[in-house]
Amino acid sequence: MYSKKYFIGNWKMNGLKKDLVQLKKVDSFLIRNKFLRKSIISIFCLPNTLIDFYRTNLSKEIKIGSQNVSNVNVSFGANTGFVSFRMLKDLKCEYVLIGHSELRSVGDNDKSISNKIKNSKQSKLKIVLCVGDSLKDFKSGTAYKKVTNQILLALKNNKKLLNKIIIAYEPIWSIGSGIIPKTMYLKNFFDKLNIFLIKKFKKQIPIIYGGSVSSKNIKEFKNIKKCNGFLIGGASLKSKNYIDIIKNYYN
Ligand code: 13P
Repeated sequence: MYSKKYFIGNWKMNGLKKDLVQLKKVDSFLIRNKFLRKSIISIFCLPNTLIDFYRTNLSKEIKIGSQNVSNVNVSFGANTGFVSFRMLKDLKCEYVLIGHSELRSVGDNDKSISNKIKNSKQSKLKIVLCVGDSLKDFKSGTAYKKVTNQILLALKNNKKLLNKIIIAYEPIWSIGSGIIPKTMYLKNFFDKLNIFLIKKFKKQIPIIYGGSVSSKNIKEFKNIKKCNGFLIGGASLKSKNYIDIIKNYYN
């Protein structure tokens, strides 16, 4: 199961049309590399402003995702600034991030996150559900409790949608800090989380890691068997960094 690893770039609030060149380079790298095409799923979660332009300019080797979606239960309406699943589907977007800590920190909460997932019935988009502990949680030994609680609250009313879900574990203190958790800690964390998901939902749900992933530290993740891939922020902005992460993971 999940023999393919996810390498998901999250561009956050970065990127202009001219930066298409970065993804073009990733695209040609994947086109040239048959082994990697079979081994990974390459996804870029772009600002909505770029989705249509990029998608029409790339081969199918790169899947495109959005970074957020409306929590309102309608496809169209008087909801200024919101973008619905129906609209993302129209752009042929295949993935969406939900619950990223940067959005939780400005108002997204367990209820809105659960509603966003529920609204995915409007489309076939796959959902990357982001969860993570603060430094305070980590230091007080409550990280696992925090994360499992976030997952339960997001998914308990969405059990019919589990086939669409990928869980991204992103310790908040690791995002953009250059610090990653110790390998043994992460290995145990992923093992426990995997067992938790099977027990609670009677299903294998892929779990990926996010937080300061780079070409320098990627090898440390190789022994974490239950880690099904990566959510990559800063290092996904430049094709060379993103490609080096993949190369170093498989070399
Ligand atoms: P960095 O890789 O820049 O730490 O960002 C991680 C992240 O938030 C991806 O969603």
